[in-house]
Amino acid sequence: MKTIKLLTTALVVSLFLSACHSNTSDETTKDDYMSNEDTSATTSNTDAKKGIIQKDWGTTDGKQVHLFTLTNANGVQVSISDYGGTITSFIAPDKNGNKQSIVLGFNNLDGYLAKPPYFGATIGRYGNRIANGKFTLNGQTYTLATNDGKNHLHGGTKGFDKVVWTAGAINANNPQLSLSYLSKDGEEGYPGNLNTTVTFTLTDDNSLRIDYHATTDKATPINLTNHSYFNLSGDVSNTILNDWLMIDADRYTPVDSTLIPTGQLAPVKGTPFDFTTPHQIGERIAQVPGGYDHNFVLNKKDSSFTLAAAVTDSSSGRKLEVYTTQPGIQFYTGNFLNGSIKTDGGQPINQHTAFCLETQHFPNSPNTPAFPSSILQPGQTYHYVTEYKVSTVK
Ligand code: BGC
Repeated sequence: MKTIKLLTTALVVSLFLSACHSNTSDETTKDDYMSNEDTSATTSNTDAKKGIIQKDWGTTDGKQVHLFTLTNANGVQVSISDYGGTITSFIAPDKNGNKQSIVLGFNNLDGYLAKPPYFGATIGRYGNRIANGKFTLNGQTYTLATNDGKNHLHGGTKGFDKVVWTAGAINANNPQLSLSYLSKDGEEGYPGNLNTTVTFTLTDDNSLRIDYHATTDKATPINLTNHSYFNLSGDVSNTILNDWLMIDADRYTPVDSTLIPTGQLAPVKGTPFDFTTPHQIGERIAQVPGGYDHNFVLNKKDSSFTLAAAVTDSSSGRKLEVYTTQPGIQFYTGNFLNGSIKTDGGQPINQHTAFCLETQHFPNSPNTPAFPSSILQPGQTYHYVTEYKVSTVK
């Protein structure tokens, strides 16, 4: 009986952000279990023991895909697929202890093969845009795949989000997963064989730590990030417009009509981009044509590990903090979500029902010498850290 109840709980929480299945374990009904049997494949470690479990999750490109579920000592769970290095769910308690996933994601690989806009994915070789899909390095001009009008976005047509990564050895008791990918010289137009490893660690202080490492045999731009879309309420029938946001940035990078930075570092003071003290996301969004989709210049002089942004959803009491060693963060308010993609539970994912906070170097840096360099040289090791930390407030 207890096993069935726990299994049922696992099935229910694994249903991504579904309003009609937001029950807590005690309220879970037999109907929930029965109706969701088919989509049950995925997210939860049924005995909620600290550690990591692995399961087969379909195939693509002739390769076996897996889903890994990391659980910490408090029962917080993060599921990650080796397809795209994708975070498919991040289950955290609200202020009353009810657990729901706070990220957009699907229970099945098919949801990802349908190419949602980078839900939860690891982005590479270059997060965000490179103007006209071109850059010049050491006197040579490189032409990249263009997949966003005339620009290159998030690594191109088949970026790191659409390949199967190789998982390193796992230790069942340790909620940690390393994924590696070799991006070959010339892939999507980039120079050099780039060896990348991304390590996800779920700590007992409820942080998902992501360590990014890479080496190359030719100079190349690199800008790895994670593209999780958060809805802290755990329910996409709520927009994110009432969430309170702080970003520790006195400046941001204004963009042109194709979302390429103009090169300016503009002060946020007196503008709708000033989140140096908390503001509700929706308070001034109408003054930003299209919604927020901008890189913020974090207030730091070096690559120290600092709090970049914090978001609180008062209704659920969930709080997300983002720490990073990177110089920038892309704040994106799900402007292009338009209801055409549905959750596993059938709910349309509408505009502004999720936000992204992507730690990064600035967009189009390879063409903007004044921005911090995003070039990795042979012999150097690229390494940076981001943590997504969840907690609750009353
Ligand atoms: C970009 C948006 C883009 C979204 C999904 C974000 O990182 O800044 O412009 O639409 O990713 O592709």
